[in-house]
Amino acid sequence: MIKVLYLLLAIIIIAQFIRPARIADPVDPATDLIAVTKPDAEIAQMLRTSCYDCHSHQPNYPWYFAITPVNFWLNDHIQDGLKHFDASTWASVKGFERDHQAKDAMEEMDKKEMPIPDFFYLGRHADAKLSDAQYGKLYSYFESLRDGSWDIEKARRKAAGEIK
Ligand code: HEC
Repeated sequence: MIKVLYLLLAIIIIAQFIRPARIADPVDPATDLIAVTKPDAEIAQMLRTSCYDCHSHQPNYPWYFAITPVNFWLNDHIQDGLKHFDASTWASVKGFERDHQAKDAMEEMDKKEMPIPDFFYLGRHADAKLSDAQYGKLYSYFESLRDGSWDIEKARRKAAGEIK
């Protein structure tokens, strides 16, 4: 029995050396959403505390990111979030893709579905949580980023039979 416990302990300790790499790229003012769109201080703050942990290359990692396997789980969410909406490279993607992301973000704000409930917020949920008024402000902000180019591209894709 004791041997089994030692073995388990050894596995847990060894596992701590296997970690996903931390993402920490410098902010590129030419492509970063906040740097390019220059929203007011309140919106910038909301984006940083409530969205940038999963949708930018500067996540603010919680201390428990040091623990394997929690870190793999958190890392998956960041990678997944980045695939859908990457605020750090915002200005480098095609115009209609930006418009598409703004449209999706408006939907998420409308349904209050972001930030996803996550272990990222254990112990610090209070500052990432958005009030109804804040959701309203972020909704208007994303709306102000729209230029309708996605609707045109979507219609083109539909007409070309590329999407249903
Ligand atoms: C804890 C991680 C996390 C945080 C914080 C977070 N998101 Fe997400 N987000 C995700 C993940 C994971 C996905 C992809 C899966 C999904 O759509 O649920 C996603 C998807 C999205 C999408 C794409 C939706 C679609 O229809 O494809 C948008 C837009 C988005 N998030 C906006 C935001 C905004 C705006 C905030 C801040 C208010 C935010 N997210 C905060 C994890 C997060």
